[in-house]
Amino acid sequence: MVDFEFKEEKQSEAIVITIDGPAGSGKTTTAKELAKILDYRHLDSGALYRTLTFSLLSANVPTSRWDQLEETDLEGLKLQFIPEGDCIEMYYNQRKLSSELRSPEVTDNVSHVSSLGVVRNWLLGTQQMLGVHGGLVADGRDMGAAVFPEAEVKIFLTAELEIRARRRLLENIGEEISKEQFKEEMIRIEERDLADRSRKYSPLIRAEDSILVDTTTLSFKDQLIAVRNIVKDLTGV
Ligand code: CDP
Repeated sequence: MVDFEFKEEKQSEAIVITIDGPAGSGKTTTAKELAKILDYRHLDSGALYRTLTFSLLSANVPTSRWDQLEETDLEGLKLQFIPEGDCIEMYYNQRKLSSELRSPEVTDNVSHVSSLGVVRNWLLGTQQMLGVHGGLVADGRDMGAAVFPEAEVKIFLTAELEIRARRRLLENIGEEISKEQFKEEMIRIEERDLADRSRKYSPLIRAEDSILVDTTTLSFKDQLIAVRNIVKDLTGV
């Protein structure tokens, strides 16, 4: 993780910045660090979909029922998304969630949950409300194209599949990666990307007015600097 020695002065004209892209492109880490630099709040929208997935699994709602879910079922899960400091915390049954949201079980099921129209509708207003006063860096799959179409800066991050799989494994299990694990992770990421790109509601697409940043050959630090510079060049923020 980059340790920036300085935090820039809080800006008066707080804007919304969206960072979208496929799994492992570095959206969430970049968005989180960028929000820190600007003294903005970070919205990790993937965590909302993961929270819903975790809750459905915890409440033992069978996956065969997910396609029939209605808004009242989602409300019945008693989830809370609460802005706290520079991020949004997720609660299920009054319990704050963190590492459980990235369990393999949640990861393997989240694309199913996020493909449901009822889920996307239900989460849309919540996400938009969080950006009402600006000062937000939101990352996900449809932040620029659907949730914040008026965002002042839209970034689309991408990187080659092999690189994204390697980064994800480094994050989850460290340097010792077997060929088997590498192959499995590539397949897992590819399947999730395909599901996210081909779903009916709010698929992963690059917003027309977004700026593409290919991070294949960039270190995390360089990636963050590139994104930070785009924001500065476009808006002066
Ligand atoms: O971090 P990673 O790229 O693995 O995924 P994430 O950002 O935590 O998102 C998990 C899943 O949530 C994605 O694979 C999508 O299916 C879904 N998602 C979505 O549909 N729309 C968003 N705005 C964010 C995430």
